[in-house]
Amino acid sequence: MAKKLYFGSNLKMYKNTAATVSYLQDLEEKTKDIPKITRFIIPSFTTLERASAAVDHQNIMIGAQNMCYADEGQFTGEISPLMLKELGIDLVMIGHSERRHVFGEKDAEENRKVLAALSHGFTALLCIGETADEKNYGISTEILRQQLKIGLFGVRPEDTDRLWIAYEPVWSIGVNGTPASADYAEEMHFEIKKCLAELFGERAERIPVLYGGSVNPGNAEELIVQKDIDGLFVGRAAWDAAKFDALIRQALKAYASGAE
Ligand code: 13P
Repeated sequence: MAKKLYFGSNLKMYKNTAATVSYLQDLEEKTKDIPKITRFIIPSFTTLERASAAVDHQNIMIGAQNMCYADEGQFTGEISPLMLKELGIDLVMIGHSERRHVFGEKDAEENRKVLAALSHGFTALLCIGETADEKNYGISTEILRQQLKIGLFGVRPEDTDRLWIAYEPVWSIGVNGTPASADYAEEMHFEIKKCLAELFGERAERIPVLYGGSVNPGNAEELIVQKDIDGLFVGRAAWDAAKFDALIRQALKAYASGAE
């Protein structure tokens, strides 16, 4: 059966408000004829109010790059779920590799954020991935299972229809990253889905698992045709609307020619 596909980008800390708005409008215009896919863009906090107003959320979901687990309090520098709600944000990304490895976030903290995001009605996008050392020690699966089991601890099965997972191996992300091979990515996605099934039973089948980490026009096709890869979560290769549109179309064409 054909799967529902997801394509999105994390804009990290690059585009200011004007650049974000024009990128979103351009991307919406270019991709709105593409049926049956879910598109999402995750811009910087300061752009979110204008970004959220700039697009039809049926076409492009808008996400935040992080969120505090508390509604309010003595949390200087943090952004509350209530503040994001006010802006009409659809989804919240939690535990991106750069949050974990540059800013030291831990699984237990990601768990509090996941629970808060779901309880406030957002889609929660939990990012997981092993480091190069963990891969070399042969413990990738154990690390992913740990990140899932702690990160999703206490998630109610009925909330899993608003849960997405992104597998982004730390060694594959960014300018110094090496893209994962399609075979390796598929192997990890299979393990992730196995763990999700242990946690949530049949409901796990509806949780999309996206691949991210140096996705580019050279590997998008072989990644998207993998059985357990439900979408592509793209950084650099998506930050120009025309290039992202072309990448999405290329991936969909490859998928359509392989799908029964
Ligand atoms: P790159 O595609 O630039 O490696 O970034 C991926 C990413 O971090 C998406 O969240």
